[in-house]
Amino acid sequence: MSQYQTVCTQLKQAPKMWLVTGVAGFIGSNLLETLLKLDQKVVGLDNFATGHQYNLDEVQNLVSPAQWSNFSFIEGDIRHFEDCQKACMDVDYVLHQAALGSVPRSIVDPITTNATNITGFLNMLTAARDAKVSSFTYAASSSTYGDHPALPKVEENIGNPLSPYAVTKYVNELYADVFARTYAFKTIGLRYFNVFGKRQDPNGAYAAVIPKWTAAMIAGDEVFINGDGETSRDFCFIENTVQANILAAIANDEAKNQVYNVAVGDRTTLNDLFNALQAALHENGVTYNKKPVYREFRAGDVRHSQASIAKIEQFLDYEPEFNINQGINIAMPWYIKFV
Ligand SMILES: NC(=O)c1ccc[n+]([C@@H]2O[C@H](COP(=O)([O-])OP(=O)(O)OC[C@H]3O[C@@H](n4cnc5c(N)ncnc54)[C@H](O)[C@@H]3O)[C@@H](O)[C@H]2O)c1
Repeated sequence: MSQYQTVCTQLKQAPKMWLVTGVAGFIGSNLLETLLKLDQKVVGLDNFATGHQYNLDEVQNLVSPAQWSNFSFIEGDIRHFEDCQKACMDVDYVLHQAALGSVPRSIVDPITTNATNITGFLNMLTAARDAKVSSFTYAASSSTYGDHPALPKVEENIGNPLSPYAVTKYVNELYADVFARTYAFKTIGLRYFNVFGKRQDPNGAYAAVIPKWTAAMIAGDEVFINGDGETSRDFCFIENTVQANILAAIANDEAKNQVYNVAVGDRTTLNDLFNALQAALHENGVTYNKKPVYREFRAGDVRHSQASIAKIEQFLDYEPEFNINQGINIAMPWYIKFV
């Protein structure tokens, strides 16, 4: 039995109270679904900036009425300290996901990204410290590696941030470290690498590549590749990310005040991703015959990204269960139904 399975069994036997911020978003709603299925009590906080009520409705349909009754939702904003205080009351484990994602969004509007991702983060950190929660796990980002050229990415070696978004996620790590030194409040940052799966929003200007391309292919629209298509990413299926969060939440003190890569440790080019999505759609009865349209490289994007997952394997006993192709095959029917 893996450590993750053991932890899930233990949680079922002795349920805890969790706070998931950004609960109406992609990662937050998947965390909510898993936690409720494990009979946990969950408080969710979201202001619907990029999340949706229909994500919560979908989770409600996937759990039992008794499990759903273990969920309470606060519509609130992490930029307001009182909302964070309210959300942290009586909570054991915090999974802080709320933020404004997207490199391009942060380039267009750095002020709102900063307010949410830095002030909001500091509010959550402070409220959680004051509430004396047992653990605080937060969504960091692979964008923190910036222009550091080494592959695979190892936690200790970061470069200069390439976007306002990357600055905000790095500042989260700095605050987290200072809270450990100053207040002995030790947290865990999870540097996510291109997470994908069901309920990742395919709509809007700032959609991530997998949902955006999948939706375009289903609609028979053109798919645009920024650059030559040889840009690569370590795409991580959502279930791996959920595992990392749950393992981080229950981690012992020695594993805290650290950041960990959350990924698979593989690298897939955009050209290969295009082919994989096309093939998975074909398997599901959707034929897409157009060639991709190549255009300019996008500002702020790193060229290659691939994680070393040695640290999280060693300290949190993380074992990614799904590679990119398995994840795409699981997610595809959802996209076909949703889009
Ligand atoms: N998806 C990825 O590949 C990826 C990669 C690296 C890091 N991350 C981080 O993971 C976290 C979750 O990302 P996601 O992909 O689920 O994005 P998402 O946009 O689907 O979810 C973010 C959620 O936070 C909420 N939110 C935003 N501002 C808020 C505020 N001021 N107050 C309360 N709630 C607010 C949104 O409404 C949304 O529901 C974010 O911190 C993001 O930066 C994601």
